[in-house]
Amino acid sequence: MAVEGRIVAPPLGRHPPAGARHGRTLVLGHRGASGEAPENTLAAFRLALAQGADGVELDVWRCATGELAVIHDEDTRRVAGPALRVPDSPWRDLRQLDVGAWKGARFAGERILRLEEALEAMPGAVVNVELKTRRGEGASTLARAAAEAIRAARAGERVVVSSFDWRALRAFRAAAPSVRMGLLFDRKPAWRLRVALGVRLLRPAALHPDRTLASESRLRAWAARGLAVNVWTVDDPAEVRRLASQGAAAVITNWPARAVEALRGSPIPARG
Ligand code: G3P
Ligand code: MG
Repeated sequence: MAVEGRIVAPPLGRHPPAGARHGRTLVLGHRGASGEAPENTLAAFRLALAQGADGVELDVWRCATGELAVIHDEDTRRVAGPALRVPDSPWRDLRQLDVGAWKGARFAGERILRLEEALEAMPGAVVNVELKTRRGEGASTLARAAAEAIRAARAGERVVVSSFDWRALRAFRAAAPSVRMGLLFDRKPAWRLRVALGVRLLRPAALHPDRTLASESRLRAWAARGLAVNVWTVDDPAEVRRLASQGAAAVITNWPARAVEALRGSPIPARG
């Protein structure tokens, strides 16, 4: 496994602050380039950056011994085979799992990363750190640990921390007042009310709407309130272009190469 290896982001000049609005729309690989490589692994992060993404989105759970594990699901079954529940498992058990082979033999040997390792491995990249909890369980501890990891990696300017869990965001805001946060939401009942309330209470720099909510009129209304809008998960190149032309700050995509090409106006690579 190449956890020791450093990933160098493509030259962007001074990297744009995460979670803020810029002169152009950023491309962030959703769990890395997860369409092609095993999600949330170094391979997926490396591929996203090699394809010209500005950065990545990744998911973080806190495990039983306190480490911050970069993994999407609450348990390891889908990506590793054995089903260890991440919040109940010690780091040494999680680390020994192979989380690459399920996506193809060439990815065998990929390991779950700690958040610190992921940040250090991508020194020039924008990183959207999504905090994961089950109904708020352990939200404060997770948020404080994430704040500490981001501080230790000196990554505060290039990170945007998002969550569906308001408890995690509130605790993160207290632990790291200057790091940008994104309010994550999808089409749940009363989502409009929840977003209005969330903006008022949590003061996020960014909104992270599900793509089906990112209409032109909403993008304009949110931008008018000074919010960056980072839309997920956008895999259709035409939609990438539409969102960029309507002022989205970032698109979060499983296929960063296609999004980068779409924004360059070059021919779009075929699916497959
Ligand atoms: O952060 C955007 C997106 O990742 C939220 O949903 O389930 O893919 O983590 P999920
Ligand atoms: Mg996520």
